[in-house]
Amino acid sequence: MKYKTLHLQLRFLLPLIATLIVVAYLAVHLMDGMTLRWFSRDVNSRGTLVANALSDSVAEAIDTSRLERLRPLFDRTVKGERLFAIGLCSPDGRLLLATSAFPGTLTCRAALELSEQIDPRLALTGGAVHVGVHDVMGHLAAHDAAQQANAAEDADAGPPALLGRLVLVHDMSFIELRSQDSRRYLIGLIAVLGLVFAVLTVVVAQLSWRGWVKGVRAIMRGEGLLSPLQTSADLAPFAADVRARLRDLEDEFRRQQGPQAEWTAQRLRTLLGTQLSGDQVIVVSNREPYIHERSDDGIVVKRPASGLVTAVEPVMRACSGTWIAHGSGSADREVVDSADRVRVPPGDDDYWLRRVWLTPEEEQGYYYGFANEGLWPLCHVAHVRPVFRESDWAAYRAVNQRFADAVVAEARSEDPIVLVQDYHFALLPAMVREKLPMATVLTFWHIPWPNPESFGICPWRREILQGMLGSTILGFHTRYHCKNFIETVDRYLEARIEHEHSTIAYQEKETLVESYPISIAWPSEQAAAAWPSIAECRRRVSERLALPADACIAVGVDRFDYTKGILERLNAVERMLEKWPGWIGRFVFVQVAAPTRGALDEYSAFQDRVQRVAKRINERFGRPGYQPVHLLAFHHEHDEVTELFRAADICVVTSLHDGMNLVCKEFVAARDDDLGVLILSRFAGAARELAEALIVNPYHVEETADALNRAATMPLAEQRERMASLRSTVREYNVFRWAGRMLNDAGRWRLRARIEARVRRHQAD
Ligand code: F6P
Repeated sequence: MKYKTLHLQLRFLLPLIATLIVVAYLAVHLMDGMTLRWFSRDVNSRGTLVANALSDSVAEAIDTSRLERLRPLFDRTVKGERLFAIGLCSPDGRLLLATSAFPGTLTCRAALELSEQIDPRLALTGGAVHVGVHDVMGHLAAHDAAQQANAAEDADAGPPALLGRLVLVHDMSFIELRSQDSRRYLIGLIAVLGLVFAVLTVVVAQLSWRGWVKGVRAIMRGEGLLSPLQTSADLAPFAADVRARLRDLEDEFRRQQGPQAEWTAQRLRTLLGTQLSGDQVIVVSNREPYIHERSDDGIVVKRPASGLVTAVEPVMRACSGTWIAHGSGSADREVVDSADRVRVPPGDDDYWLRRVWLTPEEEQGYYYGFANEGLWPLCHVAHVRPVFRESDWAAYRAVNQRFADAVVAEARSEDPIVLVQDYHFALLPAMVREKLPMATVLTFWHIPWPNPESFGICPWRREILQGMLGSTILGFHTRYHCKNFIETVDRYLEARIEHEHSTIAYQEKETLVESYPISIAWPSEQAAAAWPSIAECRRRVSERLALPADACIAVGVDRFDYTKGILERLNAVERMLEKWPGWIGRFVFVQVAAPTRGALDEYSAFQDRVQRVAKRINERFGRPGYQPVHLLAFHHEHDEVTELFRAADICVVTSLHDGMNLVCKEFVAARDDDLGVLILSRFAGAARELAEALIVNPYHVEETADALNRAATMPLAEQRERMASLRSTVREYNVFRWAGRMLNDAGRWRLRARIEARVRRHQAD
């Protein structure tokens, strides 16, 4: 800061000093000229006086031809300080008499010529002299008394004649001396003035700099704008500008810094090793992370299109342990050992996948029936009626028990950590607790939880709530879902609810109900470095789908599910092309729709409807070489989805209701170029975290169509602003943080349980 002040002052002082030097130079010259003119005038008039005083004597001496009599007179006259020499010239220019110092080089003619100049100076070896020539006029007088008397009478008779010329050579050294003196005084004066100005400038600069700094600080604190006395209206826009710029810098700094203590796989492993002292982790989910399928090329391994798998798999790789899931692949049985286990991921073998086999009837009743025709539409308010069948409920109970037994069989201790995933296993927590009362059961509900009225239509609402309350910790994506769950328990069970701590005590057992927003694993630097460039991704996608070269590409990537708002999205695309026909031929919408639950009527009817709408739009707006909608209703591997995300200008997520939605986070993670626009439904849990997306109500076709147009025309700078911020959020709030927070809470809970058990033992002793 000091350096800055100095710099600022120098910027004031240097021009001042330069100006003073120029002024001093000009003033000295001006003063020299003036001094010279003053003294010349002075010397001239003094010369005239001297000449007048001498003229009579000179005239007489000339008249009497006794010039030598003038010498003592001349010598006396030059004794004065300023007269250097005197010479007497005849009218025809001969030097008749001169004092000893009279310059030998100065002839009468030269003296006459010199004296007629403005500056009659003559340079001699001892210094400069001033040369003045004065005429001596008069009448030649008679030499006797009679002649004198006549002459006196005749004195006025004729004009006086030129008798001679007096050449007065004045000493100029005193002028030089005086000139030097005044020059010194003048320079001294200017120097003093300069010094005074400099000191004044420094003082004023210091004061005003401090004032500015104080003022700007006040403005930064927002004080200046509150008090009109402190900040004038003129300064208000400046203050706003400075604040905005500082915020920009802060944001930039934050983005570059990254999160304070980023959650990573390693940090999660450390947490497990310390807080949970390396306890066994068992995951239970319906969908398995790796599916072995038989194909013409032999057995192939597939990754399912599942948000749950996307989130939990990296956690499992970090924790090791065992993942129990339904073995649904056609070749799954061929690769497991005698205990139905296989090491995955293939090649890395980080953890065990334990497969549970279901009969088609079990799968029909438990998975398609109760889970996806009952609970799924019940929890997603997407205007599809839930169907509850007694047989489905029986299958659901039985399968939950099968999985609970598998957990007990896999447990190597009496208190494993069991991570139960989703609505397929609402009964399992209580079942596990019955067999393993010391286990820590963390249940995460991946879909929304409805309000008590909506949930109340389930005939087995009490059983489901009781089953879930077997959990130690029950997690939802948002506080809103936690609140709905607690209110539902309050409505249908006799439980003690501690709203302050968000706990429910039911039948001597306490459950913590907490929100843990799920996320994805942020791509590692190596993974991102292996991605093809954005241009290459665009080229490949354009080539594969035969897209126009300059197409604006919007993508949607979902399971082919009625909750995802795919129909509403297509309607919005149609409306956009209708409202802005300029996009026809240039705007392309690519929808990846991964096949899911196709055996259910609701799903097959929905999927047929989407196909029809896509066809209608293509017929309406398509041209030779241009197809506005590309519906890709088949499985895409993770790499292919990443390629599509990187090729896209826009990603559209318009779920009608979604617990979180990880597709939007995957899109953000794939855009390491900080470009691309995310359109996100306000009914997806992710909308609470990803505020820089264009948030829409997917039911409002016009609003979504407008958002599509806005995204397609968004300037790159705005895209960068939004995307950089989205990326920093997703990076910080990653899946390791999700798991870490849950496991942290579990660690604290286990510690508390152990302390309570010890206290009880002491009391018993
Ligand atoms: O969206 C909730 C969710 O449970 C996801 O976690 C999971 O990907 C999906 O639903 C279930 O899909 P599927 O029935 O194909 O396993």
